[in-house]
Amino acid sequence: MQEIKDRKWWKEGIVYQIYPRSFQDTTGSGVGDLRGIIQRLDYIKSLGVDIIWLNPVYCSPNDDNGYDIADYRGIMPEFGTMEDFDELLAGMKERGLKLVMDLVVNHSSDEHRWFQESRKSRTNPYRDYYHWWPAEKGTPPKRWSYFDVESNAWKYDEQTDSYYLHCFSVKQPDLKWENPAVRKEIHDIMKFWFEKGVDGFRMDVISFISKEIDYPELPAKYNGDFVAYYSNGPELHTYLNEMNTEVLSKYDVMTVGEAPGIGLDKALDFVDADRAELNMFFHFDLMALDRAENEVFLMRQDQWKLTEFKKIHTSWDQVFAEKGWGSMFLNNHDFPRSVSRWGNDTRAHWYNSTTMLQTFLLTMRGTPYFYYGEEIGMTNIKFEQIKDYQDINTLNRYNIIQNEGGDLDAFVENEKSASRDNARTPMQWNEDIHAGFSEGTPWLKVNENYKEGINVLAQENDKTSVLNFFKAMVQVRKDHLGLVYGSYRLLLEDHEEVYAYTRTLGDERFLILLSFSTKKVEIHLDEIDFETAKLLISNDSELLVNTKRTFELTPYQASVYKLS
Ligand code: NOJ
Repeated sequence: MQEIKDRKWWKEGIVYQIYPRSFQDTTGSGVGDLRGIIQRLDYIKSLGVDIIWLNPVYCSPNDDNGYDIADYRGIMPEFGTMEDFDELLAGMKERGLKLVMDLVVNHSSDEHRWFQESRKSRTNPYRDYYHWWPAEKGTPPKRWSYFDVESNAWKYDEQTDSYYLHCFSVKQPDLKWENPAVRKEIHDIMKFWFEKGVDGFRMDVISFISKEIDYPELPAKYNGDFVAYYSNGPELHTYLNEMNTEVLSKYDVMTVGEAPGIGLDKALDFVDADRAELNMFFHFDLMALDRAENEVFLMRQDQWKLTEFKKIHTSWDQVFAEKGWGSMFLNNHDFPRSVSRWGNDTRAHWYNSTTMLQTFLLTMRGTPYFYYGEEIGMTNIKFEQIKDYQDINTLNRYNIIQNEGGDLDAFVENEKSASRDNARTPMQWNEDIHAGFSEGTPWLKVNENYKEGINVLAQENDKTSVLNFFKAMVQVRKDHLGLVYGSYRLLLEDHEEVYAYTRTLGDERFLILLSFSTKKVEIHLDEIDFETAKLLISNDSELLVNTKRTFELTPYQASVYKLS
């Protein structure tokens, strides 16, 4: 076999993301906890995944479910204690699982000691840990905020007659990376967790950390698209490179940045290994595909096209063909469930489309990220009423529309396919009360379809389940390094219903056929020699019909062939 350069555990690993609040409650509080994850480690191991990414578990007043951190070295009491955390980490190590934590350092909570100090006086030693604008200079130049009812990122603070910057909620003040003392604090926090044995970080909105600190008026070209401005700060790469030199280079760890606003043209600046910054990052091109322009939480009116879906993945594959490495995901805690979005969650197509999407992630180049429940095909909950939502983003946008006198019914309708809460409903373990997630009242309603086979226990006991397909498909990737490192070539580029590609490593060659259609589809693959093709896996017992290189795929069929 061809020699592979730059083999890395984080390239070969499969990530399983856990939203701790929704995974397993052991106390009856209605909120998931660390002991719940400990209890489920054998299950996670049984999936065949290698790396767990934990959403934030640090002390937080939970204005944004843990993305507002009040103590970077403490565990949120709702989730447990540091002893629980240590036990969790030890349990993972025992099972050969790696742990990636969330690092949320574009902002802290306003309840963090640094901010409490910072707001006390203009001369406080922590004053320069945050971005302040003295009121005597007038109203600060416009900056946009995601979770603010006026979309205003400047909040007036009476105590010192100044405004502070918060690109997210008013309780999430932005940290001032331009201050070397802040960067040093962050490096120390990272070391604290690495010394405990943590294996890496997923870095929240890392593309936003560098700001223009004379806060000029927003250049006109960014009006309406402030993300591009926020992600283009002057010292961003200086800070990432410094973080790498000071901390990351000293440990065998992985990093994946969350990078809104970063497109293909800037991709390698983050992950070209020669630049010593990050290993991977999440781009948002796919997440924007079915959304209104510059409005990532509004569904666009027309349907997304498979040709566009393919184009996004093909160009991101190309950009990392020689250098860098990609990260593949179809959903996470900020976006709706993959099967409801990219597949089809009706009874007739749920099984095939869920497993087809799993096959896609596990046959592309780039590290695959699965989100808890994706392995059993959990779907969007589609709440009918605003009162069922908990997410600050949905609630804030509801308030904005209410204040503007806008169409609230249309908004609630939109949220059925757009809200982050669709992906945050409790894990569906079995058919007990609340799907076995909690004996108390869950913090967010459980999707009732746990009673219809979408739960772990039922699927473990069913050989033909989504869960068992997932495990088998994971094994196929593990058995074939060509599916990890092999080059990718798109076939049938303009086909509207089938995504077909090959992966090649040395003389190992694979063909992947994925139907995105609710109907049978016929395709012609003249260039593939099927004489020696061996089927490795398919989600449909009705196999591909092959008549002189004309093939028929059943709805949402996925098949992986080894060609040589
Ligand atoms: C991105 C996180 O994924 C999201 O959940 C959070 O609300 C924002 N960053 C702010 O931290």
